[in-house]
Amino acid sequence: MGRIVYVNGEYVPEEDGKISIFDRGFLFADGVYEVTAVVNSRLIDYAPHLERLARSLRELKMEWPCTESELRAMHEELIARNGITEGWVYMQITRGAADRDFKFPKGVKPSLVGFTQVKGLLENPDAVTGVKVCTVPDIRWARRDIKSVSLLAPVLGKQMAYEQGCFEGWMMEDGVITEGTSSNAYIVKDGVIITRELSNSILAGVTRRVLFALAAEKGVKIEERAFTPEEAYAADEAFLTSASNFVLPIVEIDGKRIGGGQPGPVGRRLRELFLDAVREQAGLLI
Ligand code: PDD
Repeated sequence: MGRIVYVNGEYVPEEDGKISIFDRGFLFADGVYEVTAVVNSRLIDYAPHLERLARSLRELKMEWPCTESELRAMHEELIARNGITEGWVYMQITRGAADRDFKFPKGVKPSLVGFTQVKGLLENPDAVTGVKVCTVPDIRWARRDIKSVSLLAPVLGKQMAYEQGCFEGWMMEDGVITEGTSSNAYIVKDGVIITRELSNSILAGVTRRVLFALAAEKGVKIEERAFTPEEAYAADEAFLTSASNFVLPIVEIDGKRIGGGQPGPVGRRLRELFLDAVREQAGLLI
């Protein structure tokens, strides 16, 4: 059965969801997006996703297509209409449809689309085995802090990693790792988590932010700094985070086994801590 999707105010069967060929998302990748996890039919960490969306829109001087409460209602309506228990809601806002002109159009309403995807998030076989990553060049633009739909560089990076049998590409710039093509990157050395500090060079992951709070509660030390691939090869553990994978252990980087090729204790514990927090929000813990 096809999905019900949201397009500019209407809920329609996915085959009827239509966007203008003049939409600036299509012509210029002039848009922003968010991916919010759903567990037990409830949105996970919606507030920080909304906060990041507001920031992305502000940075790009883009208008809101609707009110905050209407946006939340759209997310919930999509979950209900599609009977989603686990997966995520994807939402995208673009600067709207107008004659092709690089300058911002005047008096044009932004476009808003949303759809759901089904995926098991609590039970994930990749989390049991751990995944492989390999380094790929980071050829993105200079404002990776904005969650823009301009994703050609990550698409190429992910494909390059996939062709090498890897789950994710860790992007490299100036000899250090920035982040994954669609996730944040971490290594663990002597019990300390090392991950790149926030700046325009990486996306401020919502999962990263929530994980930091959990780690602080448990007294797990985090060092925010860039690391090299060589440091990663010599790490005790590695993992990635994203709304679509939560915390996912990594067991191989560029063909080199990490932590004996098994998910390590720190990564496994952080995943469990994260899942507990998710279960609590989802009303699964009594
Ligand atoms: N990607 N870094 C990049 C470049 C990302 O694209 C993402 C998320 C993250 C992690 O952010 P968060 O924890 O808020 O999901 C980091 C989403 C999941 C995607 O494009 O599908």
